[in-house]
Amino acid sequence: MATFFQEDEILGKAYDARIMRRLLTYVRPYIRLTIVALVFLILVSLVDLVGPALIGYGIDHYIAPKTQTLSETQRSIGLLEVASIYLLVLIAGLILRYLHVLLLSIIGQRIMLDMRSQMFDHLQRLSLSYFDHNPVGRLMTRLTNDIDALNEMFTSGAISILGDVLTILGITILLLVINWQLALVTFVVLPPLFWIASYFRVAMRDNFRAIRVRLARINAYIAENIGGMYIVQLFNREQRNFERFDDLNRDYLHQTVRSILYFISFSSITNFLSAVAVALIIWYGGGRVLVSALTIGALVAYLQYVDRFFLPVRDLAEKYNILQSAMASSERIFKVLDEPATIQDPSEPEVFGNVQGEIEFRDVWFAYNPGDWVLKGISFKIRPGERVAFVGATGAGKTSLISLISRFYDIQKGAILVDGVDVRDVRQNDLRKHVGAVLQDPFIFSGTIASNIRLHEEHISDVINTMRKCANAAQDFQLGKNNCSPLPEPSRSIPKSCLSWTKQPPALTPKPKC
Ligand SMILES: Nc1ncnc2c1ncn2[C@@H]1O[C@H](COP(=O)(O)OP(=O)(O)OP(=O)(O)O)[C@@H](O)[C@H]1O
Ligand SMILES: [Mg+2]
Repeated sequence: MATFFQEDEILGKAYDARIMRRLLTYVRPYIRLTIVALVFLILVSLVDLVGPALIGYGIDHYIAPKTQTLSETQRSIGLLEVASIYLLVLIAGLILRYLHVLLLSIIGQRIMLDMRSQMFDHLQRLSLSYFDHNPVGRLMTRLTNDIDALNEMFTSGAISILGDVLTILGITILLLVINWQLALVTFVVLPPLFWIASYFRVAMRDNFRAIRVRLARINAYIAENIGGMYIVQLFNREQRNFERFDDLNRDYLHQTVRSILYFISFSSITNFLSAVAVALIIWYGGGRVLVSALTIGALVAYLQYVDRFFLPVRDLAEKYNILQSAMASSERIFKVLDEPATIQDPSEPEVFGNVQGEIEFRDVWFAYNPGDWVLKGISFKIRPGERVAFVGATGAGKTSLISLISRFYDIQKGAILVDGVDVRDVRQNDLRKHVGAVLQDPFIFSGTIASNIRLHEEHISDVINTMRKCANAAQDFQLGKNNCSPLPEPSRSIPKSCLSWTKQPPALTPKPKC
């Protein structure tokens, strides 16, 4: 079944320096905010390390001191002080974390906004042939899901991994400082932990890829079926299509269940190893306390640190997925952004002002796909004001011919001249301003009839008359007389005679000549 679907999933690495460098260019405008967020992150990691040390201090000095030098009142005052500082540290940590998350989210959203704008702008410049080869659904995914994946990386992936690494490093140093022998005993669990983490990393990565591919298949299938519902129902394909969908759906379910299994197994094993570490500390550390080589406070602080040590390790697999997904998404986004517009304006365009509307095809050869000729050596001349009809079998090339006048595609051989000027020698905007087209298949943008007729050309003043005609045609179809009311969806419910008027009828475009 896999071959049936076009799989465009790029399943990249979790870290790709080239992509990362390019992503960083999007961070550049917000570099100050990012630095502030990083400072907050470092502070949060440091503040988090203070709590256990304070508790250890409180126990060793005021609850179970080695020597009874302080009175009971002094000890309770001391405890109150420690508790107050603990609370303050906690509050400081909360505020810093709040600011850090807020800043990161703002940066992430801003980058998404920039990327979406850049992508939309770029898509509009691409030549029509690009859209012939790239389904709408796929481009929609680029603009929405892929950009979302990047946001997730900025807010909860890349930067928080940095925080996790800082925390792990800080705790390791503290454990060694408190008691290096105990630290070495505790670190016995590290080799199996790293081995298991790397095993699950690979398994989860493969599973994650499988899920993405399955999801892409489901999306493509749904899009295809909704788009072609008419055909599905016409040919009684419901049951068969449902069965096919059911297969895809189940396939997706199996992979998702597997991912849950991995996730639960991984966290259970890390929990178990963390329990082993605690048991080792109680056994060995407790023994050190008995021979007075370690204080109780240090032991309690130690236990708390070990607990915090395992937290980021447990999250690592999830963050790895976020990073990987973001890298793959960026690669796909950049692929669209790097797509050059094949139809370019000339560097020195001819002036194309007072157009009479003479069209000439001079031995035009054209193929959508190389070698697959649609027009072979077509030549004709249409004088200004002359009316010409092209008649031919379906697929003969009538629509193609019309598209070439507006230079939606470039021809391979020959020349197309408007008023004696090659269409490749003028700006696309200038050329299309003078060509009016009433399309075979009307396309309606969301909005009102009026806005569809105008297509944002505010200077089309005769729009009211046209709207009246349109409303008359529409009356029978209960579209209503109010031309400013939003159009119903789908546009198929609107009479064609009406729609054709909304397609910039030649009389309404800014005086088309062709
Ligand atoms: N975007 C495209 N990409 C590739 N091939 C195309 C594309 N559009 C049309 N063709 C092919 O080019 C040929 C001419 O198509 P065209 O749409 O110009 O014919 P037509 O005369 O307008 O037909 P109809 O009467 O059905 O509208 C056909 O073989 C068609 O399959
Ligand atoms: Mg056609």
